[in-house]
Amino acid sequence: MSGSSPTTPDPALPRRRRLAVLISGSGTNLQALIDAQNTPALPNTSIVLVLSNRKAAHGLVRATSASPPIPTAYLALQPYLRHNPGKTREDYDLELARIVVRAKPDVVVLAGWMHIVSESFLEVLRGHHKIEDEIRTPGDSDNDENPISTGPIPVINIHPALPGQFDGANAIQRGYEAFQRGEVDRLGVMVHRVVAEVDRGEPLIVREVPIEKGESIEVYEERLHSVEWEIIVQATKRVLDEVKPMPPSEGNGIDSDDRVEKP
Ligand code: GRF
Repeated sequence: MSGSSPTTPDPALPRRRRLAVLISGSGTNLQALIDAQNTPALPNTSIVLVLSNRKAAHGLVRATSASPPIPTAYLALQPYLRHNPGKTREDYDLELARIVVRAKPDVVVLAGWMHIVSESFLEVLRGHHKIEDEIRTPGDSDNDENPISTGPIPVINIHPALPGQFDGANAIQRGYEAFQRGEVDRLGVMVHRVVAEVDRGEPLIVREVPIEKGESIEVYEERLHSVEWEIIVQATKRVLDEVKPMPPSEGNGIDSDDRVEKP
C-alpha cells in the first residue's frame, strides 16, 4: 500500500499539469493540444477546461468528444450583457476570469480566442485581483489536491503573424494580401505571452511560414495551420515546464527544437 487515499495525494507522484484552453471557432489548435496531452509532447498534462465565447464553436464538440471528455463552458459577451442589465464588458471579463480560475489551471492557452481580454482579466490571472470564490475551503479535497494557484497563471496566445506584423483580426488574409502586393517578404506565426496590448506580448516561439507568389490563400493557410499545431504544443510545454517542471526522471521538458527561432 502506498498509504495514499483519494483525499491524500501521493507526494511521490508529480501533480498533473492543468491547462485551460479558450476558443472561439473550429478548434484545430485545441485538437493539437488534445492529441498531445499525456504524450512526450505534453507529459503529465490534462486539459481541464475548454471555454468558448461562441456557442456554435466546433471546438466545444472536439472537447466533449475527447476521451475522456473535457469539461466545457460557454459565455458570450452580448447575451451576458443582455441578461445582466447594468453589467459591463469588464464584468464579463471578470466572469470569464472566474470560470477560468475555478478550473485551477497552471497555464491558460488562447487558441483561436476572438475576444480581446482586458487588463482586469489578466489581473485576476496574475493573482493581483482576488475573486470571492478563490477563498480556500478547509477540508475541500479537490482544493487539497489541486490548490488554486497563489502565483500568476501564465496566459499565452497563438497569432498567425510574425511579431509586430498584422496585429488583431484577419491577420492571415491581411498578411497574404500584403505579400502578394509585395509589401512584405516574410510571413509566419507565433505564440506569445498575453499582455493587454493586442498581440504584443513577449514571443515564445516564432516560425516563418513559406509563401509563394501567386499561390492561393487556401494553400498558404493550410501550410500555416500545420505550423500552428506544432508551435502551440511546444510553447505550452515550455510555459508548463516553467511553472510546473516535471521531476528529472520524467524529463525536464527542454527539447533542442523548442526555442524561439529568430525570423
Ligand atoms: C488560428 O489560425 C489562430 O491563429 C487564429 O484563429 C485561428 C483559429 O483556428 N487566431 P482554430 O479554431 O484553432 O482551428
